[in-house]
Amino acid sequence: MSVDLFHTAAECGCAAKVPAHLLSNVLCNIELPGSPNLIVGPETLDDAGVYQISDELCLVQTVDFFPPVARDPYTYGQIAAANSLSDVYAMGGTPVSALAVVCLPSEMLESETIEEITRGAIDKLTEAGAVLLGGHSILDPLLKYGLAVTGTIRPDRILDNTGATPGDLLILTKPLGTGVTIMAVKGGMADENQENEANQSMSTLNKDAAQIALEYGATACTDVTGFGLLGHAFQMAKASEVAMEIWFDCVPRLSGVLEYAGMGLLSAATYANRKYVGENVIFDDDIELAEQDLLFDPQTSGGLLIALPQEKAQAAIEAAENKLTTPCKIVGQITDAMKTPKMAVRKSSP
Ligand code: CO
Ligand code: CO
Repeated sequence: MSVDLFHTAAECGCAAKVPAHLLSNVLCNIELPGSPNLIVGPETLDDAGVYQISDELCLVQTVDFFPPVARDPYTYGQIAAANSLSDVYAMGGTPVSALAVVCLPSEMLESETIEEITRGAIDKLTEAGAVLLGGHSILDPLLKYGLAVTGTIRPDRILDNTGATPGDLLILTKPLGTGVTIMAVKGGMADENQENEANQSMSTLNKDAAQIALEYGATACTDVTGFGLLGHAFQMAKASEVAMEIWFDCVPRLSGVLEYAGMGLLSAATYANRKYVGENVIFDDDIELAEQDLLFDPQTSGGLLIALPQEKAQAAIEAAENKLTTPCKIVGQITDAMKTPKMAVRKSSP
């Protein structure tokens, strides 16, 4: 391997995200002009915006970019693209086109780094059936890459955060722990298998997972990224006005991640995510600190968190086992309707 991109970055991947509580402080001070065609805007904390352009068609738009999450440029490009496409999938959309957002250090101008990153991104766009239209690049001391993605969706097929209903089960479609694994790879503590397992998971598209969410009547759906499982679950609980339970032992995780969390390989975002969720989560006494931290670990290109009617969840899991290459599990349940979102983390399912 000629370059190690981790030598160029401070915070990696979605761990570099601006803390959620700061973002909501900014947005609540600004009056956002509406439009009759604006179907999903910033107020529901959803994954992507949705704008209706005809009776049958809406645009789904999102942008995501971040510092390196893998050591080699090609893998970084694949993961950055899978991560950017994910917000379109999380809304139930079909990606159509993308624009690259590039911050490039001047010392990389002559190298093949950006070419390899772009190659990785294009391979993932092709897998998604989308095309790269162009992009914008600036010189910047720290490398960053990502995509602005446009997708389409039928107005009656939008998967947002707002419909989770008491009784629904929660499904997670990828293992947790990319944040701590990236820290461990950076620190030279992860072995090759652990690194490959995380890279494999992060570069997997949420395309098939979204297909399953649509097919089995998901009531709410989001992808688990920078705010961690509990941060994104909290946003769903808030938008749907429900309380939920998460069953720790059921949550799929990458190998070694509890040890990493126990060693304190945690990014600043882990603490910011805990602060963001605050009093809205209650942990049972038998949930250890490392286990709690893992639930706040910022994920890069994480899986979908899908709320589904109870009677459809088993069939959805079986379909997922046949179709998905990542472990997919029922990880919790929507328990009550309530204005103040509440989450309870239990060791195992009832
Ligand atoms: Co998202
Ligand atoms: Co996003």
